[in-house]
Amino acid sequence: MGKTKKKHSSKNKKYKKNIKKKILKVLKKWKSKQVSKQVSKPVVEYEPTRPITLTGQLFSFRDLKPMPIPKKDLLGKCRFVSEFDKLNRIGEGTYGVVYRAKDKKSPVEQIVALKQIRMENEKEGLPISAIREISLLFKCDHENIVRLHEIVVGKRLDSIFLSMEYCEHDLSSLLHNMTTAFTEAQVKCILLQLLKGLKYLHSNFIIHRDLKLSNLLITDKGCLKIADFGLARLSSVPSKKMTTKVVTLWYRAPEVLLGSPMLTKAIDMWATGCIFAELFLHKPLLPGCSEMHQLDLIFKLFGTPNSSIWPEFDSLMAHKHFTLKPQPYNNVRSKFPELSDVGYRLLNFLFIYDPSRRGTAEESLQSSYFTETPLPCDPNLMPTFPEHRNLKSKKQSNQPKVAQNIPTGLPSLMDLLQ
Ligand SMILES: Nc1ncnc2c1ncn2[C@@H]1O[C@H](COP(=O)(O)OP(=O)(O)O)[C@@H](O)[C@H]1O
Ligand SMILES: [Mg+2]
Repeated sequence: MGKTKKKHSSKNKKYKKNIKKKILKVLKKWKSKQVSKQVSKPVVEYEPTRPITLTGQLFSFRDLKPMPIPKKDLLGKCRFVSEFDKLNRIGEGTYGVVYRAKDKKSPVEQIVALKQIRMENEKEGLPISAIREISLLFKCDHENIVRLHEIVVGKRLDSIFLSMEYCEHDLSSLLHNMTTAFTEAQVKCILLQLLKGLKYLHSNFIIHRDLKLSNLLITDKGCLKIADFGLARLSSVPSKKMTTKVVTLWYRAPEVLLGSPMLTKAIDMWATGCIFAELFLHKPLLPGCSEMHQLDLIFKLFGTPNSSIWPEFDSLMAHKHFTLKPQPYNNVRSKFPELSDVGYRLLNFLFIYDPSRRGTAEESLQSSYFTETPLPCDPNLMPTFPEHRNLKSKKQSNQPKVAQNIPTGLPSLMDLLQ
C-alpha cells in the first residue's frame, strides 16, 4: 500500500514538472514572438477596445496558449464612461471626485452623478470603502437613499465610476449658501425624510457611520437622499467590534469618542441629533477641533455622564488617562429657546448618552413634534435654490474631513482636568 502511494506521488511530481516545463516553453516562445513584433511595430497606446491579450495575461486551459479575451467580455458588463458627457465637478470628498454628467445613450435626457473611485496607492484592487459602498447601495431600495444605477469603467483599468441618481444639492453647500435659516416646517420636512431613510437602513442592519450635512442630498423636488456609504457597515446582533475611527468629528457620538468597540446604529442617531440642531440653528452644534475638545463641548452642553445614567461609562473611562470636571447640568434648553417642549424632548432623546437607550429612527418618527404646528412642509413645497455647485468648479466645503487623525494637545484638554 505504502509503495503504491509513493509510486503515485512520484508520478504526480513528474507530471507536474512536465506541465511546468511545457508552460515555460510556451511562454518563452510567445515572449520572443512579442519582442520581435514590438521591434517591427510602433508602440500603441492602451486603448480599451483592443484586446487586453496584448499583454498576454490570458491563457487557454486547453492548449496553454495565450488567447484573446472575447470582445463581449472585455469590459465585463459595465458601460464605458465615454457614453457619458461630464458636465462639471460637483464634489470632491475623501474617497473620490463626483461629476455631473449626461448619459448620451439615454433616449430621454438623463443627468447622473458619476463618482470616481479614488485608487491612489491601491495595491490590492478596489478599496474597501468602494466595495462597501457599491454592495450596500445595490441592496438599498428606498426613496430617501441615493440610487446607484450602475458601475461604469474608464480607459484605465483603475478608473471606475459609480453612476447614481443626480441630486441638485447637498445640505452642506445648501446651508452654506443660504442667507436665512430653514423655517421650522422645512427643518421638520428634512428631519422626517432623514428618519425614514434611517429607519429603512437600520431595519436592514445597515449602519451609515458618516452622517453629516454633506452626505445628505436634496433634489429640486425637496426629496432628501442619504448618500456616501463609504464607511457604512452591516450590523449584527450581538454587535460586533468595529473600528472607532468613524463618523466626522462634529457628529461623533460620545461612545465613539471614548473608544467603545461595540458600535451600534445609535451612532447614526447621535449624528441625526447634531444634524437636527444644525438645521435649526443654521450653524454646527458641536464644532470640536480635536477629540478632547469634542468631548469637552458635549459634556458642557449635556452635563458630564456617569455610570448611573450610562452603565458602560466607567469601563470606557477606565482606559482614558484623564478625570472629568463635574458638570451636572444639561444646558440644551438655553441653546434652543424657540423649540417647543415636544421638539426639545425629541432632541434630548437623540442625545441620550447610553446608546442602548438613545432614541431610534422608528421611535423618533412617532414623536408628536411632527404632528404639532408648524406641520412639516410637503417636500414638493420646499423652496428651490440655485445650483451653487454647478456655478463653482470646486466646492469650498466648510465641513471637517471624515474620520480625521485628530491633532492632540489642544487647549480644551485642560478644561477637562480637575
Ligand atoms: N448622487 C449625487 N448627486 C449629486 N451630488 C452628489 C451625489 N453624490 C455625491 N455628490 C456630491 O459629491 C460630494 C462627495 O460625494 P460623497 O459620496 O460624499 O463622497 P466622499 O466619500 O468623497 O465624501 C457630496 O458631498 C455631494 O456634494
Ligand atoms: Mg461624503
